[in-house]
Amino acid sequence: MKRDRFGRFGALVAMAGSAVGLGNLWRFPYLVGENGGAAFIIVYILLSFVLCLPIFISEFVIGRRSQKNAFAAFRDLSGGSRWKWVGLFTIIVPLIVLSYYSVIGGWSVEYLFKSLTFSFTGESRSTFSTMFTNFVSSPWTPLLCHTVFLLMTTLIVIVGIKDGIEKFSKVMMPLLFVIVLAIAIYAVTLPGASAGLNYLFNPDFSKIDGSSIAAALGQAFFSLSLGFGTIMTYASYVDKKENILFQSTATAVSDLMFAMIAGVAIMPAVFAFGLNPQSGPGLVFDTLPYVFGQMPGGSVIAILFFVALLVAALTSSISMLEVAVAYLVEEKKMSRKWACVILFVICWLVGALCSLSFGPLSDIHINGRNLFDFFDNLSSNVLMTLGSLFTVLFVGWRLKKADIYDEFTNGGTLSRNAKLFGVLWFLIRYVCPVVIIAIFVSGLL
Ligand code: ALA
Repeated sequence: MKRDRFGRFGALVAMAGSAVGLGNLWRFPYLVGENGGAAFIIVYILLSFVLCLPIFISEFVIGRRSQKNAFAAFRDLSGGSRWKWVGLFTIIVPLIVLSYYSVIGGWSVEYLFKSLTFSFTGESRSTFSTMFTNFVSSPWTPLLCHTVFLLMTTLIVIVGIKDGIEKFSKVMMPLLFVIVLAIAIYAVTLPGASAGLNYLFNPDFSKIDGSSIAAALGQAFFSLSLGFGTIMTYASYVDKKENILFQSTATAVSDLMFAMIAGVAIMPAVFAFGLNPQSGPGLVFDTLPYVFGQMPGGSVIAILFFVALLVAALTSSISMLEVAVAYLVEEKKMSRKWACVILFVICWLVGALCSLSFGPLSDIHINGRNLFDFFDNLSSNVLMTLGSLFTVLFVGWRLKKADIYDEFTNGGTLSRNAKLFGVLWFLIRYVCPVVIIAIFVSGLL
């Protein structure tokens, strides 16, 4: 079967699009807030580059070497062994993530709508918390928004790799960058912004403990879309001429840059209005709208911010859906359209349960968490970690070193990659598995 290929820029923006998402604009700022600011960011950066970049490269190698969907990649590269079940695991996890991700994507649809109708002006602080709580706990509107978001995701993926995913990412990623940068520049000019910058850039290492390191690792996996098949699947559409090291590093750097710029866009504004950055997942939905309502020009900034949030969410959600679409099309010989329809229904149902877990289903708890928190926590702290562990074990211990070298250096033609291969190999084979297991176990304890 003939497969589509990303162009060079297309591959870059699609990968960056998969990485940059709600993780950067919604999750990163509140985790920084909850885990002590700059010290958390430093740990996060270290983990991103020492641990996550080699994992990213491992996924890239698997995808591009096989030029197949994630299931077939594990199956065929291992000569049809039990590793294919890991492949299946990496098909199922992104569907779980997409289901609850689409709920938050839906919240950004609603808040974009609210910002377009200027609903944030002149309200008191508590009104926004009440507005958010009432919204998420009501059954219908969040369900409708979840449906709209998932529909947008599905429609982009239905169109295909080149005409859907690549074209969308090529237009939206530069736009996203400009918007977030513009908001950040504006935010630092606000009187009182320096407290927010201080909070972001002044490290307090006493706040770092096992659980904040585990949170930083979970966030790095989430943000780089690791351990759940997306990078592998996108890499399977990347041309053999491209440089894996360059593409992977560029993605990791843009992801980090976006997270930092988002931090700079959000924290100074939060501090400028004397608010607490530790308001958890509600930070961008209840704290920020109040801030937008207070600041000069806030109505425009609010629209820009929620456009950015929606776009960032979409460029990631399409990558999650593509993992299973590629599987159904290539392994089950389904048409792309049918694959998308079936997956839409599955993700809609699971997402609906997550959405309702803030309202009518809020009494259902697993491990003391509502369904939404359970899925979020399970995915980013357990499933993505396991997926990443399996990936490095597969590349480091199951595949042949010579094949990895060949793929990573484009047949020995990339001299810088060849020089760095020894370090990369050591990180993938020894450091990554040991550190992932250590942090995972300490997080569980
Ligand atoms: N990498 C995606 C994000 O950060 C999942 O939102």
